[in-house]
Amino acid sequence: MNQRKRIIAGNWKMNKTREEATELSSALVSALSGQEDLPEIVLCPPFTSLQTVVEKTSLSPVAVGAQNMDWRDSGAFTGEISPVMLLDLGVKYVIIGHSERRQFFGETNTTVNQKLKAAIKHSLVPIVCLGETLDERENNLTDAVVSRQIAAALADIDATLLAELIIAYEPVWAIGTGKVCDAKEANRVASVIRKTVSNLYTGVDIGLSVPILYGGSVNPKNVDEQLAQPDIDGSLVGGASLKPEEFLPIIQAAQNRARLAASGT
Ligand code: 13P
Repeated sequence: MNQRKRIIAGNWKMNKTREEATELSSALVSALSGQEDLPEIVLCPPFTSLQTVVEKTSLSPVAVGAQNMDWRDSGAFTGEISPVMLLDLGVKYVIIGHSERRQFFGETNTTVNQKLKAAIKHSLVPIVCLGETLDERENNLTDAVVSRQIAAALADIDATLLAELIIAYEPVWAIGTGKVCDAKEANRVASVIRKTVSNLYTGVDIGLSVPILYGGSVNPKNVDEQLAQPDIDGSLVGGASLKPEEFLPIIQAAQNRARLAASGT
């Protein structure tokens, strides 16, 4: 049975003012208070609300992540935020290589690799995003694309540094479209990613131990089938993470899965 961590992360993207962030994070914290068998829960608000959400979630089971960062520590890089600044705020996780960063902001496999190295250097937990476009899927390139992306992300990184790595498989065509990837297919791609990671390293099976999340139109109705898949350990949720009435049932689905696993069902 799979002993990997279960993780439910909410990527708020460019949404929520500080006041709205306070309201959403406070509602989640109070609903989750005293609950057991929770997955790791990570909220990723925009930079402007990181401090607010860190404060609202302190002493709760909820952790905070950033949606992006620069790989350098400081310097003349107007508009960028460094890992040092994130740590200073109490941020623990960082999303790296989200497809919207790749699509709209020039993120490449090379910058993903640089950011992953920086996250490791600063002990931020990286959530590295991968996924194919619709065109790539229709041309049967899915496996080749995700394999290339993960190999490039991990280039020149020693296996001993990857204990905290999290991977998110997010097919681009499933993001924000309501077109969720079939759970069995998402599981198949997750297993391709695992095999690719395993083949990159000898001696240690990182591929087997790395948590892999699925992202792309996750909602309370489809999440359970995803979490039931053997190679999927959690969710990276966009739109449905913006409302407690949608995000809480997603967390609860992971909680139910943990209980089923504990009872050996
Ligand atoms: P949606 O859940 O809105 O499809 O977004 C997924 C995503 O991009 C999470 O990072």
